[in-house]
Amino acid sequence: ARTVTRNDDGAAEVGGLDVRALAEEFGTPAYFLDEADFRARCRAWRAAFGQDADVFYAGKAFLSRAVVRWLTEEGLNLDVCSGTELAVALDAGMPADRIALHGNNKSTAEIERAVDAGVGRIVLDSFQEIVKVAAVAQERGVRQRVQIRVTVGVEAHTHEFIATAHEDQKFGLALADGMAAEAVRRVLRLESLELVGIHSHIGSQIFDMAGFEVAARRVVSLLADVRDEHGVELPEIDLGGGLGIAYTPDDDPREPQDIAKALGDIVTRECESAGLRVPRLSVEPGRAIVGPTAFTLYEVGTVKPLEGLRTYVSVDGGMSDNIRTALYDAEYSVALVSRKSDAAPMLSRVVGKHCESGDIVVKDAFLPSDLAPGDLLAVPATGAYCRAMASNYNHALRPPVVAVADGAARVIVRRETEDDLLRLDVG
Ligand code: LLP
Repeated sequence: ARTVTRNDDGAAEVGGLDVRALAEEFGTPAYFLDEADFRARCRAWRAAFGQDADVFYAGKAFLSRAVVRWLTEEGLNLDVCSGTELAVALDAGMPADRIALHGNNKSTAEIERAVDAGVGRIVLDSFQEIVKVAAVAQERGVRQRVQIRVTVGVEAHTHEFIATAHEDQKFGLALADGMAAEAVRRVLRLESLELVGIHSHIGSQIFDMAGFEVAARRVVSLLADVRDEHGVELPEIDLGGGLGIAYTPDDDPREPQDIAKALGDIVTRECESAGLRVPRLSVEPGRAIVGPTAFTLYEVGTVKPLEGLRTYVSVDGGMSDNIRTALYDAEYSVALVSRKSDAAPMLSRVVGKHCESGDIVVKDAFLPSDLAPGDLLAVPATGAYCRAMASNYNHALRPPVVAVADGAARVIVRRETEDDLLRLDVG
């Protein structure tokens, strides 16, 4: 969050609120999300892309009713990838025509819900899905706007599990083997589908613009092929999300205007040289909007020095509130925030309270050697894919998300209770 400062006792303040008071009021672990920062990032993306483009926030990174309201007010659109994300979006008042439905295996019920709501687009991911969406739309007598998700064959330099545009993975229809062109043929034959464009998403946590540029070129070249074969110019392209953020001071992220300029320039140039009208561009940032806006606050429970190795610092959460370190080898930073300390730094590993040794929150960190139970630690940049991927492992109760704005804090997603969990257990 942009508004973290230190007060005279050395305790951190977020938006003017002392973290010790926040921990007292909301408990730990908890995520604190800076609403002003979230809105500022939304505005930066809108401004970077301008009126001729659309910014779809990727709800998978973190979605709640409050977030949907902020997005609606800030003029963003929303990408959802399940029926339940769609339900949250509609419930919180996002106009359906600003919603896109994604997913590589949408159920018929999800498709029906989306078509009935009148979503602005459904992104088709397989031949089976083309038939399925067409059938639902036909049954309802509507013409559903769709895009086709293509795989452009780019190796994005990121963790294998979050790269999505190389050939050997489950998403989209490949350009290289003609599947994408065949999908276009099939969609254009169906009365109940209106093919509005082509979609590509190459992966996530990407710093290098080169992959996006290759994707843009290949998508435009498909548009040219479609024009040559069918005589139609598709009016839209979506180049997905994936812009990386700084998790540690070593990361050097690009800004929205960098990606806007890179994509805008390439698309315009390629379209001009192919003699195509420049299509309306859209993008789907998730992490880059919400990731930096939140931090997780933990309380230290135990401090265990291992001679000649490092000190293990156990906090009251772990892989149940942030699976990213265990799953992707993600790197985070951490700071003591409840007081200042001049003690010498010690090599530390911040671990959770779950029953496995992979339960690591921050792999390597230097924390003050006088660290003690009761101290509060903050892990920044946990706004994306942390609460969204939280689990009940060991029957952990998923932490709340607290929005901080104008010097006040309010819960936007409450902490799970034992009752919540026991209610599911009906045996
Ligand atoms: N559009 C599509 C079609 C996507 O699949 C994704 C992310 C996005 C947009 C947003 O990407 P972003 O701007 O947030 O990078 N759980 C992983 C990330 C998985 C991303 C999945 N798709 C993580 O924690 O790193």
